[in-house]
Amino acid sequence: MVYVTRREVFSASHRLHNDSLSDDENKEIFGKCNSPNSHGHNYILEVVVGGEINPKTGYVIDLKKLKSIIIENVIKKVDHRNLNTDVDFLQGVVTTTENLAVGIWKQLVDKIPSGKLYSIKIKETENNYIEYRGK
Ligand code: NI
Repeated sequence: MVYVTRREVFSASHRLHNDSLSDDENKEIFGKCNSPNSHGHNYILEVVVGGEINPKTGYVIDLKKLKSIIIENVIKKVDHRNLNTDVDFLQGVVTTTENLAVGIWKQLVDKIPSGKLYSIKIKETENNYIEYRGK
């Protein structure tokens, strides 16, 4: 297996809030990330695809194709958006980086033409890194 990574960046706002909890519980769990008018991040997304090298092309996956799949199915939906209100695949979940990684996985898993989606990694800040491998 050879692993190929494409990195993309996007900017988005969000508010960590669980509608089924009281305002006090939300404040206690999420602190300043619960502030009512949202806040923003410059997210770094890494999509890792694993597979065998195609002997004809020498590629696991054509990175130009991988890039357009990510742009079409993820970046266009999240960049310069409010993750709580504007993103169909995040409705009904708290917009943590964990849920964002799972949502992005679901957006991409059936769209990879060769090789297999191996992991979604998202960096929300310099110090926080989330990785999802589909289970
Ligand atoms: Ni945040």
